[in-house]
This record gives sequence, C-alpha cells and structure tokens, in this order.
Amino acid sequence: MTTNLSVNINKIATLRNARGENVPDLLKVAADCEAFGADGITVHPRPDERHIRRSDVFSLRPVVTTEFNIEGYPSPEFVDLVLRVRPEQVTLVPDAPGQLTSNAGWDVEPNFTFLSEIIEKFKDEGIRTSIFVGTDTDNIKAAARTGADRVELYTKPYADLYPRDPEAAIAPFIAASKAARNAGLGVNAGHDLSLMNLKFFHSRLPHLNEVSIGHALICDSLYLGLKETIRRYKEALR
Ligand code: PXP
Repeated sequence: MTTNLSVNINKIATLRNARGENVPDLLKVAADCEAFGADGITVHPRPDERHIRRSDVFSLRPVVTTEFNIEGYPSPEFVDLVLRVRPEQVTLVPDAPGQLTSNAGWDVEPNFTFLSEIIEKFKDEGIRTSIFVGTDTDNIKAAARTGADRVELYTKPYADLYPRDPEAAIAPFIAASKAARNAGLGVNAGHDLSLMNLKFFHSRLPHLNEVSIGHALICDSLYLGLKETIRRYKEALR
C-alpha cells in the first residue's frame, strides 16, 4: 500500500508570526508543498494561536486540494472549527492548552464517552477521524470501539530509541499497527519522524496509511529547499 505524506505547516506559521506580517505566505507554502508532492497538509491550531490561527484554517480550506488534516484537542471551539471547515480528516490529540507540543497519546478508556460522542459528530459530517495514541494494544482496541476510523501512533519513543536499537524501537509499533488493523482501524503515525528514521519505520510497517511530519521536514528544507526535501521524504516512503 502507499503511505501518504502529510506535511505539518505549523512551523511556517511560527516563522510568519515572528514578524507579524505575511512572510512566509502560509497559503503559498501549502500549495507549493502539494505541488512538490505532499499528499496532504496538516495544521494544529492551538488556543493561544502561537502558530496556526483559527483564520488560517479557514483560508487554507479552499487552497488545500489534497487532504486537509486538522489536529488538536477537541474543545468546543475546536469541534466547531472542524465542523465549519470540513477537512478530510481530524486527528484528536490530548494536549493541554499551553503545551509546547504533543507528548503522549490518549488514554482512551477514561475518555471513552467524551471521545465517542465527538467522533460521532464528525462522522455524521463525513469527516474521517483519527485518535492519537501510544502503542499499548488494549488502548488501541478501545480506540476502535469509539468508532474512530484510524489511530495516529505517537512515534517519539521510536525516534528516540532508533539510533541505538532500531529493532527494539520498531517492535512495539509493529504490534500496535497489527492490533489496529485487526480492530479495523487505519494507521497513521507522527512525531519526530525524519529523513534518518522514516525509511526504516515505513519498511517495517506494512499497513501505514499516512505519516504527518513537520519539525524535521521544515528544518531539512533550510538546507535542501522545500522541493528537494519533500522529494526525499516521499522517496523514503516508497
Ligand atoms: N502528530 C501530532 C499529533 C503532532 O502534534 C505533531 C506536532 O505538531 C506531529 C504529528 C508532527 O510532529 P513533528 O513536528 O515532530 O514532525
């Protein structure tokens, strides 16, 4: 199966916000990422709007012609935004409002009713739903029972261990992706994936629908340019 590359453009918004004007132009970068081969665009609007703003999410909707993925904590404001913008996919993450970046997946069971009700709302509108989780297989089975279409596996533990012990790093992710697939879920993955660790990750997970990559990809593009960077990430997924 092919694995889609969704480029997370939060960092582009961070750079733009540093000067308060419109350089770099987020909409142009999103369109260029697609022209250079990205299969999707991901944004993570946070309540403090420190990178992606609510207004950006509306402006991006008509520009993104591949798959638009909005990720975030499902507060009432976030749910309202997603229902109005109608992206192809929404990814639910358990971030506290001021958090620097996502640092864990959902503990599904204690949030089961909350997640199930929100997922139903999105599914009624035809928006694909994904829940951000770690590799615990019971937790993944619980994610399937919420009615979600996919899980996004939190890959930082893989990225941290990969340089020292690739086999130990990938093992829980293989088990997690099998559990997800057996439970009828699609599998996405993201966080700290990079040109160093992506190819191996992809080669060992036969049923990987999508990776969502921001930080390393934007950093690589400083040296390689965005076009060549996206080409290399796509090549790692071949
Ligand atoms: N997936 C989720 C749920 C995230 O919160 C992030 C970071 O915004 C990513 C993927 C992308 O992680 P990175 O920027 O490390 O590639």
